[in-house]
Amino acid sequence: MYNLARQLLFKLSPETSHDLSLDLIGAGGRLGLNGLLTKQPARLPVTVMGLSFDNPVGLAAGLDKNGAAIDGFAQLGFGFVEIGTVTPRPQPGNPKPRIFRLPEATAIINRMGFNNLGVDNLLDRVRASQYKGVLGINIGKNFDTPVERAVDDYLICLDKVYAHASYITVNVSSPNTPGLRSLQFGESLKQLLDALAQRREVLAVQHGKRVPVAIKIAPDMSDEETVQVAQALLASGMDAVIATNTTLSREGVEGLAHGDEAGGLSGAPVREKSTHIVKVLAGELAGRMPIIAAGGITEGKHAAQKIAAGASLVQIYSGFIYKGPALIREAVDAIAALPRT
Ligand SMILES: Cc1cc2nc3c(=O)[nH]c(=O)nc-3n(C[C@H](O)[C@H](O)[C@H](O)COP(=O)(O)O)c2cc1C
Repeated sequence: MYNLARQLLFKLSPETSHDLSLDLIGAGGRLGLNGLLTKQPARLPVTVMGLSFDNPVGLAAGLDKNGAAIDGFAQLGFGFVEIGTVTPRPQPGNPKPRIFRLPEATAIINRMGFNNLGVDNLLDRVRASQYKGVLGINIGKNFDTPVERAVDDYLICLDKVYAHASYITVNVSSPNTPGLRSLQFGESLKQLLDALAQRREVLAVQHGKRVPVAIKIAPDMSDEETVQVAQALLASGMDAVIATNTTLSREGVEGLAHGDEAGGLSGAPVREKSTHIVKVLAGELAGRMPIIAAGGITEGKHAAQKIAAGASLVQIYSGFIYKGPALIREAVDAIAALPRT
């Protein structure tokens, strides 16, 4: 059925089709229809970050930036749903067009720029949802907050979402907010992590629960930089790392229509780069911190490859656009078929 829907949706501009799909998934969710219309994945329970997941295949951030369709996505069979990136204040994002399909490469280029309705609106949506599973809330900074004050924005969001999230993702890896990726390195990273860790201690006491914090990183890092990130995350007591966001590389899309659009490239062309980062992280972390892998899962077997590389959970964005909900089931089955370690 998704093939038919896709034929229709792909006739529309990517952003119109995105908005329409979100509306449909949201409406289906409110009516409780999505679960009836999709064959559900097998149950494959896992515990990661102290949280219980029905299966290890989640929705990656950015598809439901405002938490408008949480129930709808959950009913499609995702083992967890990550909403956002959300910023303290609403912002329009970059001018359109800002999302491009590259079907020959099963890829997407986007330069959305954190278009979102702000954290207060997102929390209204979370309160309205019926979903009881694992909900990640991904936080970022407003584009007009100077990068030297970025920590303030993350702390505002951390405070606000803390009571409502199963885990919180700190996004320092979008290529579409100038300066954001500089927070992944050196002193800037250390200062951010220390500030988050300190505030989390306070919030844990206030709320009587310790909400895990994950850091989402870019694929455009050397092995040495990746190792340094892993060490900094361990030192600050973070709970997980999400690898990865989109890439600035254009390897694999040279010469294709839209291949030279500015923004982050996702889907098949980022797969190997992301999996390499997972491997380097896994080598350094040696089981001390879980890895959530995202990047280029367009077939079930790619999800299994991420787990084999050392990830505990996976997330999907571009593959879902191209393959629809059947990919969730395929990914769960491929992971279930891995030999147990
Ligand atoms: C249109 C689009 C918007 C995205 N927005 C966000 C975002 O707001 N926050 C974020 O952390 N990642 C965002 N991402 C990155 C995805 O969550 C994911 O990390 C990346 O696309 C790699 O996975 P994929 O190859 O399965 O798409 C976005 C990706 C796309 C394609």
